[in-house]
Amino acid sequence: MKSSELKQKYLDFFKNKGHTIIPSASLIPVNDPSVLFNTAGMQPLVPFLIGQKHPQGKRLVNVQKCLRTVDFDNIGDDTHHTFFQMLGNWSLGDYFKKESIAWSFEFLTAQKWLSLPIDKLAFTVYQGDKVVPKDEESAEIWKSLGVFKDRIAYLGKDNFWSAGEKGPCGPSTEIFYWKSKSKTPKVFDASDNNWVEIWNNVFMTYNRKEDGTLEPLKQKNVDTGMGYERTLAALTGEQSAYETDLFLPLIKKIEELSKKTYASEKKNMRIIADHLRAAVFLIGDQNGIVPSNVDQGYVLRRLIRKAIRLGKLIGIGGCFTVQIAEIVVKEYKDSYPELHQNYSKILFELEKEEHKFNSTLEQGLKEFDKIAVQSKMISGKEAFLLFQSYGFPLEMTQELAVEKNIKVDAVGFKKEFEHHQELSRVGAEQKFKGGLSDASAETTKLHTATHILNEALRKVLKEDIKQRGSNITSERLRFDFNFDRKLTEDEIQKIEAEVNKVIKEKLEVVREEMPVEKAFQSGAHGEFGTKYPPKVSVYTVGKNYSKEICMGPHVKNTSELGRLKIIKEKSSATGIRRIKAVLEK
Ligand code: SER
Repeated sequence: MKSSELKQKYLDFFKNKGHTIIPSASLIPVNDPSVLFNTAGMQPLVPFLIGQKHPQGKRLVNVQKCLRTVDFDNIGDDTHHTFFQMLGNWSLGDYFKKESIAWSFEFLTAQKWLSLPIDKLAFTVYQGDKVVPKDEESAEIWKSLGVFKDRIAYLGKDNFWSAGEKGPCGPSTEIFYWKSKSKTPKVFDASDNNWVEIWNNVFMTYNRKEDGTLEPLKQKNVDTGMGYERTLAALTGEQSAYETDLFLPLIKKIEELSKKTYASEKKNMRIIADHLRAAVFLIGDQNGIVPSNVDQGYVLRRLIRKAIRLGKLIGIGGCFTVQIAEIVVKEYKDSYPELHQNYSKILFELEKEEHKFNSTLEQGLKEFDKIAVQSKMISGKEAFLLFQSYGFPLEMTQELAVEKNIKVDAVGFKKEFEHHQELSRVGAEQKFKGGLSDASAETTKLHTATHILNEALRKVLKEDIKQRGSNITSERLRFDFNFDRKLTEDEIQKIEAEVNKVIKEKLEVVREEMPVEKAFQSGAHGEFGTKYPPKVSVYTVGKNYSKEICMGPHVKNTSELGRLKIIKEKSSATGIRRIKAVLEK
């Protein structure tokens, strides 16, 4: 199946069910300073989900441009993209579960539409909590359509959807597709990666208030989102969207320019294609942006510069981003005329950025190598030099450092940045929101919460839990650890309770500096596979609750943290689980 056919079928199907087709909103939210980009189809519809009358009625359908930066590190795998398109249909206080589920089922399975075998589908519904009831109703509707009960799983947090920490939200039912060529298992296991989530139907019936509590919305809404890229990969039987017509013309051009094959350079070519496609959509958007060192412009700069660096790495000579951009515009302009209207701007900005970066890239890489052989840690000053003199975004220095197994003092970098830019603290926090690692009050708290969580996992699950990765933004913490199965709801609650108990105990957090051997002798934990400098900081929570080698920064007392809430628990790789958690006031 071609991508255009899937899109047309989706729009036609819901038009037949009385929906009005609305255009995609801009990637850059106009009246919403809380987010940098539009991350879901429902985001521009928030006022209408909470009761405002939509001029085009109560049933809407569209294909929305979305961009998510949270998955930056996952780009290159089969299922994530920075820029992606979401097929969505909405009921603004009109139809509800019965129609929504029946229509999703009809669209997926009817011969006239996608004609997917029922046997390849599975479904999750909300298992309920103290406030929101178990969603038996949705499960019953699926069953009434012929779905076996073994193919319906009741899940917790994964089936309660909200765009942010406050605003409209509700329980959801998700649809999964068995992508493997092997026989579909009789019993559905949502943690098996062969089951790909393709569609999410959210029953938006609540509003989460500032204090975290839920209140019923005035109207019962439906908000569905189908991943266009993922679904197309599933329908065509391809491993990922990169092998479908959404990306193949780009990949072919990259092969031609680099004189390498996709098979030999799969990940790098995928990242180049993903990032440049995103860059074209950002510059060519109806509220288009240009590369800069702040906010959205900084994200755009990171995307372009990473693509350029990887292009060089796989042997592309000279300037090439424009050649890829030409293909993106050609392939997408029929659906997104703004790309055609902004064609010369897209090419001009890309060429300018590439020239600028090319003139310093080679010299910068030499400088990086020089710094890297001299030490195991790139200081804040050095990272800032690479940024200011050679245009290396901090994340690029960090990526290069990972390849050489050394660390970067991101906190020191930020200090240098602030010092040089003479930014106010507030101003700096805004600027760093776009992706630069920061040391804001929020991330500082999340750093300490991560240490407590690490220990709580050992206490609740088992003693030999080890950190396998950590990533902190000002919004949330993400923590990877060795464990070979999905956590139960009960375990998640126990972990939360353990962390929150420690927070309430008002324990002091103390930092000491010592030689790395001494740190390990004293029982401090470190991250598996990390090379530490000879002298390290050790942070201890309480008398001896947790002891970890870490660069910080941390709060002085656990009482500063608020309340930890785990918002997601999933597999991150074989034998590795990933937890995402936030701190609530
Ligand atoms: N808002 C939900 C999502 O993004 C459904 O559209 O998954």
